[in-house]
Amino acid sequence: MSARIGVIGSNMVDLVTTIDRMPRIGETLEAPAFSIGNGGKGANQAAAAAKLGADVLMVSRVGDDVFGADTIANMQRLGIDTRHVHVVPGASSGVAPIFVDANGDNSILIIKGANDHLLPDGVDEAAADLLDCGLIVLQLEIPLETVYHAIDWAHAAGKRVLLNPAPATQALSLERIAHVDFFMPNQTELSILTGLPTSSAREAEAAARVLLDRGIGTIVVTLGADGALLVTADEVSLIPPVKVVARDTSGAGDAFIGAFAAHYVQDNDLHAALRQATRYAADSVTRPGTQKAFATAEEFSRLAL
Ligand code: RIB
Repeated sequence: MSARIGVIGSNMVDLVTTIDRMPRIGETLEAPAFSIGNGGKGANQAAAAAKLGADVLMVSRVGDDVFGADTIANMQRLGIDTRHVHVVPGASSGVAPIFVDANGDNSILIIKGANDHLLPDGVDEAAADLLDCGLIVLQLEIPLETVYHAIDWAHAAGKRVLLNPAPATQALSLERIAHVDFFMPNQTELSILTGLPTSSAREAEAAARVLLDRGIGTIVVTLGADGALLVTADEVSLIPPVKVVARDTSGAGDAFIGAFAAHYVQDNDLHAALRQATRYAADSVTRPGTQKAFATAEEFSRLAL
C-alpha cells in the first residue's frame, strides 16, 4: 500500500471565541478572547497527517476571498500537495464560528461556502493523482454525492477508504457507504446515524454492530476522554485514554484521524496506529485551536504521554 494519503474534504477558517457562557437571546455579552485559525475537518485531518510527516494530497475548494489564498498558503506551508485545491469564483470560503467554554468544551457553527462546490467531478479531475494514494480520507463537510462518488471510485480502484461521518447527518445513506474500510464516528455521530444510545462503551459497541451488519468492516468510535473503541466482526477492543487536562477539545477528532492515517499507512498496524492516534489527540486538547494545536512529528516524539 502506498504511504500517500488523499484527503477529499473541507477547509474552514475557524473564528474562535472563548466564552464564560453563551449569551441569551437579545443579550450582548463580553467574551474574554478571540483568535482566527485554519480549520475544517478535512484540512485539519490533512494537517495532522502532514505535521506527522505523512505525504498528503488534498482535494478541496476555497472561496475567492481573502481567506481562500491564506488557506492554500497554509496547506502549502505544511507540505500538503494542493494541486487539487481550487478557488471557486464568486463563492465565500468556509468559515466556522467556534465557542470554547472554561472546560475546554466547544460549540461549532459551520458556513460551508466553497466546500459545497466540491462536486463529484472534482474527484474525477483529481483521480489520476489519487491513484498514487494508499488511503483515501473523507468527512461530511462536502456534498454527500461527492462522498458517495469518492467511495465508489476508491472501491473500484482498490483503494482503502476511511470515512469520518462528521458532522453527522441522518441523510447519510448507510447503503452507499457500505464499502468503506474504516468508519470513525464519535459517540454523538454514531447515535445520530443509528438512532441508538451510545453514552457508554457497551452502548456504543451495540450501535457499531448495527453498522457492521450493514457491511462496514472496521469501526472505531472515539470516546473523548475515555479513549476509543475498536469494533470489528472478530474483536472489540478499548484503546485506553491518555489523561490530560483539556484546554480546548476543538479538532481533537480530526487530530485522531489524521494521526491514525499517518501511522497506519506506514505499516498497516491497526492497533499501533490507534494507540498513537489516541496519544496525538489527547496532546492536541492541551493547546487552544485546531491545526495550530497539532504537534509536529518532532514534538510528538518528545511527548511523555
Ligand atoms: O472538527 C473541528 C472543525 O470543525 C473545526 O476546525 C471547524 O472548522 C469545523 O469544521
